[in-house]
Amino acid sequence: MTAIPDVPKAELHVHLEGTARPELIHRLAQRNGVPIPDGLFADAETFHWTDFLHFLGTYDLAASVIRTAQDYRDVVYEYLVQCAAEGTTYVELISSPDHARNVGLSEQEHRDGIFQGIDDARAATGIEGRVLVSIVRNFGVEAAERVAAEAAAMPHPYVVGFNMAGDEAGFPAGDFTRAFAIAHDAGLGCTCHAGEHAGPESVRAALALPGVVRLSHGVRAVEDPALVAELAERGTVLEVCPTSNVALGVYPSYAAHPFPALLEAGVALTLASDDPPYFGATIGEEYQVAREHFGLDDAALRQITATAYDAAFADSATRDRLAKGLHTRPSGL
Ligand code: ADE
Ligand code: ZN
Repeated sequence: MTAIPDVPKAELHVHLEGTARPELIHRLAQRNGVPIPDGLFADAETFHWTDFLHFLGTYDLAASVIRTAQDYRDVVYEYLVQCAAEGTTYVELISSPDHARNVGLSEQEHRDGIFQGIDDARAATGIEGRVLVSIVRNFGVEAAERVAAEAAAMPHPYVVGFNMAGDEAGFPAGDFTRAFAIAHDAGLGCTCHAGEHAGPESVRAALALPGVVRLSHGVRAVEDPALVAELAERGTVLEVCPTSNVALGVYPSYAAHPFPALLEAGVALTLASDDPPYFGATIGEEYQVAREHFGLDDAALRQITATAYDAAFADSATRDRLAKGLHTRPSGL
């Protein structure tokens, strides 16, 4: 493997609980005096999962150990500092109020921890972080609308967007139209998981949701050339996670991944790591994958970052400041 590319990096798609490495989960369980849930780990350093739905269950088990505002602060801080060390300047963290609620945390406590992690990581490294509020398809419509309404009632400069994760194949996007309308009306930028474990119809359903201008994954749009043309025409930005897609069996190999075809078709693409310790690649390593397997040189990788800065849901002053640094050598490397 060659070194991590020496360009500034930005990440628009990473699940906050999914950033916590096994070592951190062990540490938090010990601090909170809670046992490690049965079935969480294959061994001390590896989460145990076999397919996508099993992965979602394992994710929920790991999240159940993250219990306090201090825990959320530590998860965010440790992740952002690791990202900064790879030359990453900006990260949008997908937060899940349902997971915090499941461990008895109020949304204010949950947010206080996340915001402290962002502030501390910025002070330590200069990295910028923002928050996307996420609903989870398989937690149901009622929970989704409650989370959206709560987000709308709690505006904050760090909370800039709205996403939907979970079981794409089992829970159609259209059921969540009202949740997205609430979030969009509240001024949150909207993105949605689609085109990962279901095909073009699911991507079309996500595009029909109020406010959706980005897609988390979206890669299976490639199965329908008219849809690919529509994505290019609309300027919809895809948050592509190549290693996640290979690890979860969406594609059998990097060689089979549609990233180059989508780029060639004029679709706006960014790179992201999704749930890095589960799938085995950091954001820096995803840039390396794009160089090695998709043939992107440094100029093309900088363009990926430029697309991410442009599509970020942060305020325009922050995006402009980030864009000014695009051609500098990132600190951290
Ligand atoms: N939650 C965490 N990671 C996810 C993914 N890759 N797809 C859908 N939901 C998720
Ligand atoms: Zn995801």
